[in-house]
Amino acid sequence: MSRFDKAAKEWDGSQLRQMLAFDIAKGIIESHPLTKEMKILDFGAGTGLLSKHLCAQVGHLTALDISKGMLEQLKENASAWDTCDVETVHKDILDYTPTEPFDGVVSSMSMHHIEDIDRLFQTFATILKPKGFIAIADLEVEDGSFHEYENEGVYHFGFEEEALTQIARKHGFTSVSFQTVHCVRKEDNREYQIFLMNAQYT
Ligand SMILES: C[S@@+](CC[C@H](N)C(=O)[O-])C[C@H]1O[C@@H](n2cnc3c(N)ncnc32)[C@H](O)[C@@H]1O
Repeated sequence: MSRFDKAAKEWDGSQLRQMLAFDIAKGIIESHPLTKEMKILDFGAGTGLLSKHLCAQVGHLTALDISKGMLEQLKENASAWDTCDVETVHKDILDYTPTEPFDGVVSSMSMHHIEDIDRLFQTFATILKPKGFIAIADLEVEDGSFHEYENEGVYHFGFEEEALTQIARKHGFTSVSFQTVHCVRKEDNREYQIFLMNAQYT
């Protein structure tokens, strides 16, 4: 059982996570004209903290996660959303080949759990329609203290804009932009900035 499987039942009890997902969703909605004709993918969807805010704006949402426990909790939560068609996919994002391409890929706090970022952007490029978008939120560079004693499965202590921009461009993304959408405040006044990276697939 992975640490996310174990954490699934208690995941949504965190006010900090709820506020973070709300601000990320707000940033995505303000950045992209979402419509009921759209089909989007939430990668590393977890229990659906981000998905639930976007569901009302699109026609279909695929929630993909490698943790079965998180997806079981998402399914339970999604029964109360009733605003769009929700499909769950239990898979590693790097092994995912959808039957139809997506209009957009969104994500909240999952990219730092993927070791090979180059392959991740290559995957985004293969699963998006032309002119499709990515809206990916994660940590700006930090000192490794964000996860405190739980760095298992954490491959990146945040990300640098320039490095991500270069990888995105290499895989055919344009109009790459970043904005800070939230600041996580932990004990001892520790602060962590959360960026939203937006880009369009050519
Ligand atoms: C920090 S949680 C974020 C969950 C949710 N997006 C949120 O904001 O509450 C990271 C999630 O990414 C998932 N994950 C990690 N590696 C993954 C992979 N290779 N493919 C798909 N999901 C992955 C984990 O199982 C976990 O649910």
